[in-house]
Amino acid sequence: MNDRLTTIRQEILDGIEQHAGTRASAFELRKQFLDSKTGKIGQLMKEMKSIAPEERAGFGKSVNELKEWAQQKFVELDEKLKARELERRYESEKIDVTMPEKGTETGNLHPITQMRNQLIDVFSGMGFEVYEGTEIETDYYNFTALNTPKDHPARDMQDTFYLSPEFLLRTQTSAGQIHVMESKKPPIKILSPGKVFRSDDDATHSPMFTQMEGLVVDKKITLCDLKGMLDMFVRKIYGEGTTTRLRPSYFPFTEPSVEVDVSCFECGGRGCKLCKGTGWIEILGAGIVNRKVLANCGIDPDEYSGLAFGIGIERTAMLKYGINNIKLLFESDLRVLRQINDN
Ligand code: PHE
Repeated sequence: MNDRLTTIRQEILDGIEQHAGTRASAFELRKQFLDSKTGKIGQLMKEMKSIAPEERAGFGKSVNELKEWAQQKFVELDEKLKARELERRYESEKIDVTMPEKGTETGNLHPITQMRNQLIDVFSGMGFEVYEGTEIETDYYNFTALNTPKDHPARDMQDTFYLSPEFLLRTQTSAGQIHVMESKKPPIKILSPGKVFRSDDDATHSPMFTQMEGLVVDKKITLCDLKGMLDMFVRKIYGEGTTTRLRPSYFPFTEPSVEVDVSCFECGGRGCKLCKGTGWIEILGAGIVNRKVLANCGIDPDEYSGLAFGIGIERTAMLKYGINNIKLLFESDLRVLRQINDN
């Protein structure tokens, strides 16, 4: 009998030596000996009955000792394997912090978005708030309330996409002026960026483009306020040395109306290709809000006056970044877009 115990003991030692490389195989091995039903040591216990009564106590004690010894062995084995597995995992998960990083590509904002953000930055610094209107407008807001009734010749200045006799794609962010003045009492100081649409298509015109409307309504607003704000705008966008000049123009919703030029930031005013030798570049339309427009919105023109300007964002960006064809801003060619990263 003792021989059998010695054999089992040796089998366990050999098994551990040869077949227990992982915790899973160690578990299987343990089962062969220590499983309560099928294990070899359990089987020995069952043989108790066939042992002569005087040997039973001694036999039971030996089997129990073997069982305890085996249990202890497998606990030690499991701990050893656990530690080894952990070590292997640490080894395989080790990172080399001296490895050079894999390059990551970062994108940048679209030039129109960059320009829009820069303009909002400049004007919000002067106290303007942003109001975003809608791209579909009624004829009333886009034209009539802006002192451009039906059959007014100024409607021909802008080829309109009509959706129905009443609805259209706005041709100008000026439509937002009316919404703001209808819903807010002066003082008003808003900036309204957004897409506008005109049936117009060549190297410098696109049927969809972006404008930034500015509107200030308060007591005693004059062209001087307009010039001061626009001077600040061109200095921030085109450089400290630049200034503006106002020329008489016509818009139905401003009186007087002006065309605004910026001094050429390329040649400093001496005359070059960009300014066509004149030293000045036309950048936007503006003016003093027509009294009729204020009255249309329920604002007393004897008490208040206003200024308005409309900046073409593509044009501003094209001049600033030296882009000669507006299509480059709409074609999403990464070779073009990657070159313009101002913020
Ligand atoms: N809405 C005019 C245009 O699109 C620009 C403008 C805005 C002119 C505000 C005067 C005042 O041409």
